[in-house]
Amino acid sequence: AVHTVVLIPGDGIGPEITDAVLAVLEAAGAQIEWVRHQAGITALETSGEVLPADTLEAIEHHGVALKGPCTTPVGEGFSSVNVQLRKTFDLYAAVRPVRSLPGVKTRYEDVDLIIIRENTEGLYSGVENEVTPGVVMSMKVATENGCERIAKWAFRFATQRQREKITVFHKANIMKMTDGLFLRSAEYTHRHDYPNIEYTSAIIDAGCMRLVQDPSQFDVLLLENLYGDVISDLCAGLVGGLGVVPGANYGEKEAIFEAVHGSAPDIAGKNIANPLALLMSAVMMLNYLAETTEDNSLLDVAARIREAYDEALQAGEKTRDLGGNLGTAEFAQAVIKRIKHN
Ligand code: NAI
Ligand code: MG
Repeated sequence: AVHTVVLIPGDGIGPEITDAVLAVLEAAGAQIEWVRHQAGITALETSGEVLPADTLEAIEHHGVALKGPCTTPVGEGFSSVNVQLRKTFDLYAAVRPVRSLPGVKTRYEDVDLIIIRENTEGLYSGVENEVTPGVVMSMKVATENGCERIAKWAFRFATQRQREKITVFHKANIMKMTDGLFLRSAEYTHRHDYPNIEYTSAIIDAGCMRLVQDPSQFDVLLLENLYGDVISDLCAGLVGGLGVVPGANYGEKEAIFEAVHGSAPDIAGKNIANPLALLMSAVMMLNYLAETTEDNSLLDVAARIREAYDEALQAGEKTRDLGGNLGTAEFAQAVIKRIKHN
């Protein structure tokens, strides 16, 4: 079967890593018809909007998107493209698997964490006020519905993936109402619906220290929006950096797959960005499509891509961020050469 997926190349390094990923997927035989749309600065320049209506319509229509990073202009009155996208489709669950990779040496050898980030509430409510000249305020929002649904989502996901433990990082000692609600919802979901998954919590500052000292004491991390954003990059640092951590944003109907990293303007256009995080996001997408459409051939394509990049890394075929010397396109070619064909 041919699957239709919306492709948003994005800004900065977005187009070059997207090209690399498309080449790998095509070489692996993924039967996907890409419907290209723009978002971010690229969209602003061509259509005057950071999130054009046709992009939103396409995502709604097809239900699945692969997205490069988008630059949000700072302080020009635009709300973040990513936040807007997640809100529009109510993509409340962000999943970021963080794993040690073969051939990528870091302080730790066997990191295997899954970050689940609440993607629609918290300090990303976008509600900011000038209370009085010289005093500004950002509103942290938590709703019972929002906290419960992400808790349920996380415990269901942990169960399906046969994970053992969920840990919530919080600051409920200070933010008694918002973080308190988040924490209570997770605890309740555990006690009421998922007693078989172990549940723990940690105050976030102490949790961060434990995370960098010994990540193996954690399994699935369940985090509200801002903590999830910050801890995702922190955890990326445990396994080789932002070039190797993929992500998925799930709602009830739509799913958008994208790397954790941003548009990396400092290295854009130089063919040095690591396309692996986006490639891994595409692998997550193939697995998701396989699950939702029952096209099991995609599982095989995904597995062959994973095997190919594992082998390439193991052989030292890496981009500069991982200590190698390959360019973006050359790394893609190295992966392509290693794809096994049935
Ligand atoms: P960033 O993630 O783009 O870059 C942070 C650092 O990591 C930079 O030094 C960059 O060169 C490096 N890096 C990131 N991805 C890399 C890759 N694939 N290969 C090699 N090195 C990589 O974060 P930054 O600089 O804070 O944000 C830049 C822009 O990206 C901002 O406009 C921000 O709003 C946007 N952004 C977009 C996201 C999205 O679309 N989902 C997520 C995060 C940021
Ligand atoms: Mg981030």
